[in-house]
Amino acid sequence: MLSNQIDEADPLLVLLHGFPLDHEMWRPQVVKLAVQCRVVAPDFPGFGSATNLATPNSIDAMADFVVEILNGLANPGKTIICGLSMGGYVALSLAHRHPSRIDGLILADTRAEPDDDTGKANRDRMIAVVRKDGPSAIIDQMLAKLIGTTTQQTQPHVVKQVQSLGSRQPPQSIESALIAMRDRSDARPWLAKIKMPTLVIVGDEDVVTPLEMANNLVKGINGAQLEVIPRAGHLSNLENPATFNGVVSRFVSQISAKK
Ligand code: MLT
Repeated sequence: MLSNQIDEADPLLVLLHGFPLDHEMWRPQVVKLAVQCRVVAPDFPGFGSATNLATPNSIDAMADFVVEILNGLANPGKTIICGLSMGGYVALSLAHRHPSRIDGLILADTRAEPDDDTGKANRDRMIAVVRKDGPSAIIDQMLAKLIGTTTQQTQPHVVKQVQSLGSRQPPQSIESALIAMRDRSDARPWLAKIKMPTLVIVGDEDVVTPLEMANNLVKGINGAQLEVIPRAGHLSNLENPATFNGVVSRFVSQISAKK
């Protein structure tokens, strides 16, 4: 888990990582946004520094794990939950099941739609791959989709970093997270009930959860704002951190200023 120490009166920004990565994907945000607010970037059980824990087979159980983290903080204060992709599925579960814990919601490169039959079959195929060939085979297969074309052409260090983050996760954690994502609920019926201020972010080159899916979130959540990150794919926070940090920072200021 990455976190900083800052005045307890500042808002708390909780950054939930995507699959098959860990808290390290948020380093550009923790470094920059930590001057403005308290930032916590936990690992889901089984990932990153939490490999001593078993990954739950459900997105709701991952959300409950985040609630436990909030319960462990002395004075969480105003809380902004920011989830990217799988982290966004968890953030949606939190917004649906624990709305009183959230003052602001950021949904980055994620979607409300559940897996369709093809998506579920692909999760099963990936489970077979991780069992047979391990985590490196999974991340190698995902890289071209996770990272936008511009980043692939101009930022080889980002491609390397993502490859290395994906390769270091335990195979059992990858398998359980694939089951959790495959079986996750359809979040579309929840959207109209989300009342907290919401920011939807999407990379303009995201092919996993493209603009159309971000627009569906914006249409479904009353008053949601949309920010499109240029020259970024599915990992928009890593591919264009300056723009990503700017839009998150403005949202944090809005939530801070709200009575
Ligand atoms: C992620 O980035 O967390 C995954 O691509 C999400 C997914 O596979 O549905």
